[in-house]
Amino acid sequence: MSTVSKKRVAILISGRGSNMGALLDAAVDPAYPIEIAGVISDTPGAAGLGIAAARGVPVQVIARADHASKDAHDGAIDAAIAELNAEIVALAGYMRLLTTPFVEKWQGRMINIHPALLPSFKGLDTHRRALEAGTRLHGCTVHFVTPQMDDGPIIAQAAVPVMIGDDADTLAARVLKAEHGLYPMALKLVAEGKARMQGGRTVFSGLAEDTANGDASLSAPGPLREEIDLEQLARITP
Ligand code: GRF
Repeated sequence: MSTVSKKRVAILISGRGSNMGALLDAAVDPAYPIEIAGVISDTPGAAGLGIAAARGVPVQVIARADHASKDAHDGAIDAAIAELNAEIVALAGYMRLLTTPFVEKWQGRMINIHPALLPSFKGLDTHRRALEAGTRLHGCTVHFVTPQMDDGPIIAQAAVPVMIGDDADTLAARVLKAEHGLYPMALKLVAEGKARMQGGRTVFSGLAEDTANGDASLSAPGPLREEIDLEQLARITP
C-alpha cells in the first residue's frame, strides 16, 4: 500500500473558522497530502478554536495584547509554528496584517483566502462593496501572501454570480460555500509543489494528469456549478 507523503500545515485564524473546518475535513482523507499540525488564533475565544480542539487538533491562542510590539507578536507566532514543525502556513480568516520579516520568511509557503475576485476588492467588507459597484460576478481567491495586503500571486479563484435581490449576507453565504471548495484544492496544489511562487508569480506544473479538469479547476471548481440557480441566472444574462 503506497502512503501519501503529508506536509504539515499550521492554520492561523481569528474567528469563526469555517475555512479552517473545510481544511480539517479535507485532511481526513488519507490521500490528501496535508496533515494539520495545529491551529493558532490571535483572538481568545475564537469559535474556530473550539471546532479544532473538538477534533483533536492542537490549538493555542497567541494574543497581540500579551506582546509588547507587532514584531514580538509575530515572533511568538513564528516560534509556535516552528514548534509544530509546520512547513506551510494557511491563513483562514486571520484578521491581522503580518509584519514584513514574518511574511518574507514564509514567502512561497504561506497562503490566504480572500472573499473577492482579486485584484478587485482588496481589504474588508468585500461583499457590500461588490454590491455597491454593481458587479454581476463575485467570488473568492486563494493567493500566496506577500507584504502588501491581498496582493500576492493568485493560485486559484472561484466565481459566483451576484443575484438580483442579494444583500451582503446572501452574497457572503454563496461566496463562503465556494471558499470551502476552493481552499482545500489550492492548498493541495501548494503542498504537492504543483503551484509554486517564483519571480513574483505563481508557476504551475503537473496539473493535467491528476485533476479532473486540468487547469480549468483553478477557476471553476466543479461542484459549485451545480449549486448555481441557472434559471435565475438566465433571467439576468442577455
Ligand atoms: C472568509 O470569508 C475568508 O475569505 C476571509 O475571512 C473569512 C473567514 O471566515 N479571509 P471563516 O473564519 O473561515 O469562517
